[in-house]
Amino acid sequence: MANQKSMMIKRDIREKREIVNIILDRFLPRKDEYPKQIHKAIRHTLFAGGKRIRPYLTLSIYSLFDNDYSKVKYLAGAIELLHTYTLIHDDLPEIDNDDMRRGKPSCHVLYGSDIALLAGDALLVSAFELLADSPFTDEEKIMYIKELASIAGSEGVISGQMNDIQNENKKVTKKTLEYIHENKTAKMLNLAVRFGCLAANAPQEDMERLDKYASKIGLAFQIVDDILDVEGNPALLGKTIGKDAEVQKATFPALYGLDKSHEMAEKLIASAQKILTHYGEKAEKLSLLTDFILTRKF
Ligand code: IPE
Ligand code: IPE
Ligand code: MG
Ligand code: MG
Ligand code: MG
Repeated sequence: MANQKSMMIKRDIREKREIVNIILDRFLPRKDEYPKQIHKAIRHTLFAGGKRIRPYLTLSIYSLFDNDYSKVKYLAGAIELLHTYTLIHDDLPEIDNDDMRRGKPSCHVLYGSDIALLAGDALLVSAFELLADSPFTDEEKIMYIKELASIAGSEGVISGQMNDIQNENKKVTKKTLEYIHENKTAKMLNLAVRFGCLAANAPQEDMERLDKYASKIGLAFQIVDDILDVEGNPALLGKTIGKDAEVQKATFPALYGLDKSHEMAEKLIASAQKILTHYGEKAEKLSLLTDFILTRKF
């Protein structure tokens, strides 16, 4: 039974990842289209083998209410474009200076910082373009574009990233640490969940309930990321480790220690799971994803 379940979730992840990969592949210019360097750089990181957790979340939340992915897949794709841009810029020497991403050399390592910067810019723009090209009504498209802009902008991910770098080598308060994690990471998971709800016309009370769920898994996701930077296996993780400690990043292990960080992530995941019980068997796949956020090694 357990085996059957694990096969079911694996198949589900594969299918949903395929839906997203197809839409991204069709939407973006081919590698050999002018200017080739940019398109190669974009595709290098976008198709390097990301987990696609954010789009998976959008599609899985949507499937609590509906099963026709023909429109919602555009929202899922747009979030992955936004996310991948943040990764390319995050790895740049001016930010985290990381050489490995998704098990491959980071974008700037292969193509140079100049091209990586532009590839990130292009990906961010393409997220909005994909929304504009989606089959929603004009009114709906404007709503999705505004939602994405507010999460990606200077009061969202960019503020999280700015505070992340400005607080290197400093002792931060719990409040600042939470602010950083909420903005650089959790908000994008909130957006993924919100997109799934909006596309399905979910009732207000579900939107609110699932927004709480998203905030919990979002913070847990970054706490686990911080933990993996201390005790992860780089070969599995596809990223270097130890970088956070080197520059004294504001992380949960740095402020609370590893044991307490594990405990905090466990608590968040347990309370996220509790929220899902409201949806019974329908949330089975989401529940497995929720556990994966805690137990993941990559
Ligand atoms: C990495 O996100 C960046 C963080 C917010 C910690 P993921 O761990 O989802 O990266 P990919 O998409 O699977 O490469
Ligand atoms: C990443 O945080 C957050 C964003 C990219 C917005 P990290 O810097 O911890 O992510 P990794 O560890 O490089 O993937
Ligand atoms: Mg970073
Ligand atoms: Mg980083
Ligand atoms: Mg990290």
